[in-house]
Amino acid sequence: MDPVDPDRLARQLGAVVGDAHVLTDPALRASYETDFTGRYGGRARLVVRPADTAQVAQTLRLCRDAGAPVLPQGGNTGLVGGSVPAGAGTEVVLSLRRLNAIGPIDPDARQVTVGAGTALAELQRRVRPHGWDFGVDLASRDSATLGGMIATNAGGERVVRHGTTRANVAGVEAVLADGSVLDRLAGLPKDNTGYDLTGLLVGSEGTLAVITRARLRLVPELPERVTALLALGSLASAVGVLAVLRRLESLELAEFFTADGLDLVLKHARLPAPFRTGHPVYLLVECAARHDPAEELAALLEEAGVAGEVRDAAVGRQASDRRRLAAYRERHTESVNAEGVPLKLDVTVPLADLPQFVADLPGLLAGRARPYVFGHLAEGNVHVNLLGVAPADEEPVTEAVLRRVAEAGGSISAEHGIGRAKSRYLHLTRSATDIAVMRSVKAALDPEHLLSPHTLLPLPPGEAGR
Ligand code: MLT
Ligand code: ZN
Repeated sequence: MDPVDPDRLARQLGAVVGDAHVLTDPALRASYETDFTGRYGGRARLVVRPADTAQVAQTLRLCRDAGAPVLPQGGNTGLVGGSVPAGAGTEVVLSLRRLNAIGPIDPDARQVTVGAGTALAELQRRVRPHGWDFGVDLASRDSATLGGMIATNAGGERVVRHGTTRANVAGVEAVLADGSVLDRLAGLPKDNTGYDLTGLLVGSEGTLAVITRARLRLVPELPERVTALLALGSLASAVGVLAVLRRLESLELAEFFTADGLDLVLKHARLPAPFRTGHPVYLLVECAARHDPAEELAALLEEAGVAGEVRDAAVGRQASDRRRLAAYRERHTESVNAEGVPLKLDVTVPLADLPQFVADLPGLLAGRARPYVFGHLAEGNVHVNLLGVAPADEEPVTEAVLRRVAEAGGSISAEHGIGRAKSRYLHLTRSATDIAVMRSVKAALDPEHLLSPHTLLPLPPGEAGR
């Protein structure tokens, strides 16, 4: 920070974005400085809210000249500490929320260009009336922004059908640390002209560039939907039922949760119990098609002989009924938060190992945490939410769970990213060669290590001056 004039950068940025969009007052900065769970947070030097790509570029040039680290932030719904400051007042939070323009739908290309600050729900409201949809959907749709979703390669609830965000992005525009603008918005379906720079930035967690706009692929909005909440005897049974349901082309969602998690949701979200009695495991599935997929769903369960596995079922076809059933799964995050500040470990395990992984958790935790597990069954994506972990146990508990994941051939981050939370465990599921290549890319694009400096690839202690 300029020791002679600490306010100089704020004044310079104010001249670019307008003084009203440079927040230095602690009360105005506060919501940008703490994450959704309350686990991660720190003081920002200031928050800057540019309105367009040119202002982002000027902002980055000024910050580089001042040697100020920059933390790009979208809807601040991240869960690994990657979107909030880590330092005590050194980082500039660059909020992209004002870049929220949505361009016209291009029906020939099945694409649309959006500003990075566009909230997912806003995009859905814009494209659905025209018969289109975005393939990625998440519980945090009202706040999560497309820029943040791209930066973290968000997954969510519909990966089983449409893939992660990566598969749904045709191109990006981004500003590099030196203020130059990378324009890959053409969205050409065929373009073999060298490195895939869009692909490089998807999932880069704000460490390589600041995404300002994106060209998104659209999928047809399917009017006929059926949602079913299935009560099951075990996770193994859920995996077996899902293996059968995967034959359905219309399968769009397959989410699981357990009795403990449902109890928290009933308590904090104040929802009525879905069934007269409780069951060990629940599988929420949704099918979407041009023509009613409900009969196909029921027939398949019968035909494959797994209907007997299902102890009880609630089925919704109207939007309000479908939302009511989905809430039992989608409201897990806020209900866990209402109970305490969770230690969240978002992991992938091979599906065949998932029941055993969950069964092993109590042994791994050895009474040091209360686990709540839920997630996206089709991808073996388990959200291990741990409550009641003493500060001294956080590291050993994290290490025990992530090592078990690595031994099973899984991934220490399924969809939330590495952020600040898991950088020290990256070596568990990425090789030394992988990490060296990633560090070279980081050094090439951000040689002064100013972008999201504490995320994913922080400098080793000693080199980290910020
Ligand atoms: C979810 O699937 O609900 C999200 O990834 C959030 C969470 O893990 O809490
Ligand atoms: Zn999730």
